Order: sequence, then structure tokens, then C-alpha cells
Amino acid sequence: MANRLEAYAHLAGQTLRTGWYAALYRLTSREVSRLGENGGGRIAVTKPTPKSWALIQDVLKLQAQDARNVKDGLYPIPIEDDVSLGNYVEAVRQMFADLPSSNERRAAGRANEAAELPEAQGMPEYYAQNFHFQSGGYLTPESARLYDVQVETLFMGAAGAMRRQAIRPIAEFMHGRDQRGLRLLDVACGSGRFLGQLAQAFPRLVMTGTDLSQAYIDEAARFLEGRKTIALRQANAEALPFEPGGFDIATCVYLYHELPHDVRRRVTASIAQTLKPGGLFVFIDSLQWGDVPEYDGLLEAFPQRFHEPYYLDYLEDSLDGSSGLFAECGLKPEQSFPAFLSKIVVCRKL
Ligand SMILES: C[S@@+](CC[C@H](N)C(=O)[O-])C[C@H]1O[C@@H](n2cnc3c(N)ncnc32)[C@H](O)[C@@H]1O
Repeated sequence: MANRLEAYAHLAGQTLRTGWYAALYRLTSREVSRLGENGGGRIAVTKPTPKSWALIQDVLKLQAQDARNVKDGLYPIPIEDDVSLGNYVEAVRQMFADLPSSNERRAAGRANEAAELPEAQGMPEYYAQNFHFQSGGYLTPESARLYDVQVETLFMGAAGAMRRQAIRPIAEFMHGRDQRGLRLLDVACGSGRFLGQLAQAFPRLVMTGTDLSQAYIDEAARFLEGRKTIALRQANAEALPFEPGGFDIATCVYLYHELPHDVRRRVTASIAQTLKPGGLFVFIDSLQWGDVPEYDGLLEAFPQRFHEPYYLDYLEDSLDGSSGLFAECGLKPEQSFPAFLSKIVVCRKL
């Protein structure tokens, strides 16, 4: 069990981190306004929206839980962001440098440039788009380098802490088992930040990360360099290239809201197939309607600010109910709980 001092040190670090990302959020918002409010479009929200102070209080609650997890020895004080300061500063610089292009795309409602890239060859149509209006969609090394700074800025530095709340159910599953004998698959691992967190919590767990984007896999390889327990592989989550039942644990973070309805079904079936009977599936994605009713207005605004063509369908999709998508695919939901703007669903493979 880590000591109280470490937990306080972590909490202090996280609070500073939130201050930094809240400042970046304000600066990027101001720059977007200067370039033309919301790219010219108006955001119309009919559902309840929290006040800024309530959001900040909720970030602090998340951080307090994160610190308790450190105190309980669930994971060590996390190493976040890029360990190379030069890379990190460059990513922040590029995020600002890229704002005029993404804002111009937003103003024009144009999100199909990614489809013209050479990297889009052979990619599914639903995928080769400029999600968030970001340059390169998910296809280019530049996009992969910026991704984490953009996500942390959007969530005021809480993205890492939201992901970490999924470590507790994994630790409970692993309790009493030898981690060296278990295998974990992280589907759509992106730039590898969740795998990095898992490797800090479970240094001997054998893990595989897959993503459809070679550029994101390359970024994950750079970020996770030296982690010998982690293998990375480019693969479509709709048809995961592994023996059925080869994994004890599967995780999937922030993928489903970017998938069309029918693809979500194929991906779930494909994930379920990789798991052994009794295996664990841990899902993290955006809250859905009514999970935290006072946040519904934020969910309503999100696809108006960012190109997220499948988000509204995601909000309504029945995933974790007893007759929802997970259950349909043989993944029995056992727990579902919010972590700030995310929801975590824990299932067992039947
Ligand atoms: C919002 S990002 C989430 C990345 C990461 N899991 C995280 O925690 O930040 C979505 C990721 O899903 C990947 N993706 C989208 N569709 C996919 C598919 N059909 N198969 C595999 N990966 C996919 C994208 O390339 C991108 O890296």
C-alpha cells in the first residue's frame, strides 16, 4: 500500500495539471473565437448543462478518487504526458498551429479530407474522416502526435484519470492470479496511453494493443518504448486477428462513439470472440443519455462542436442493459459506473 504522502503528492500534481489544461482550454477556445465562433455555427442546447464551477468540482472529485487509488496501492503515481519535454512542448505548439485549419473545416462543415490521403487506401469509409475536424483524421503521424494533448485539453486534464478508474475492476479480476500467466488485449489502443497506465499497475501482465491506424500504432510504440510485456499490431476491431478465446481480459477505450451502429455490433462480437469463458471485458466511453442527467447538455453540444457523425446514435444505443448489445454478444454486464464524463462498463464473457 502506498503511503498517504504519495497520495497527497499525486493529488497536488493532478490539481496543477488540471490548472494547466484548463488554461490551455481557455486559450484554445479564445483562439477559436478569434478565428470565428464555432467556425460560424451556433450551438443549440436544450438539456441541462452544468455550471463551470460544478464541472471543476467534479474533476476534483475524480482526482480525489484517483489519489485514493494510489493510496490503496492500486497503481503507483502515474507517469503521464510525454516523458520527453521537447516532444510535449512541440505537441502543444502544433495544437495551436493546427487550430486555423480545423476551425476552417468546422466552418465549412468539411470532414472528408482524410479520405483523400494515401493512408486512407483500403480503410473503411466510416473511418476515413476528419473526426473532431482534426487534420489527418486518425491517419497521419502529425495527428497521432497531437492527439493526447488535444484530448487532455478537451477534458481539462482529466482523460488520464478517467481511464485509470477502469484499473480497479481489472485489479479485482486479477486478485489471486499470477499476472504473468494472463493476457490482455486493448482494442483501438490509439497512442497507447491506457496500455502505459496498465503497465504501471501490472508490470508483468502480457498485453497486446491493436488499432486500425498505423500512425497511432507507431506513436504508441514510441510512447511505450522499452515495455517488453506489450506487443502492438495494426488491426481492424471488426475482425480481430487472434485465436478465439486467447485473452483473459479485453479493454476498449473511447472507440464506440466513433463507430456506426452496425459496426459497433461487429466489433463487440469480435471482442467477445477473443475472450476465454469467464474472461473480463472493460469498456470506457462517453456517458450516454441519462447516465448523469445534469451532464446531458454537454453530450448534446459535443457533436455540434466536433465532427462526430455517430455520436448521437451512440448516446441512444443500448449497450449495458440486460438485453443490450454486450449481453447479445455473450458479454454479461456486471457493473456500470460513471467516471466524470466517461462511463465504465465491466462485463464477463459467458
Ligand atoms: C478516440 S480514439 C481512442 C484511442 C485510445 N483508446 C484512447 O484511449 O485514447 C479512437 C481510436 O479508435 C481507432 N479506431 C477507429 N475505428 C477502428 C476500427 N474499426 N478498428 C480499430 N481501431 C479503430 C482510431 O484509429 C483511434 O485510435
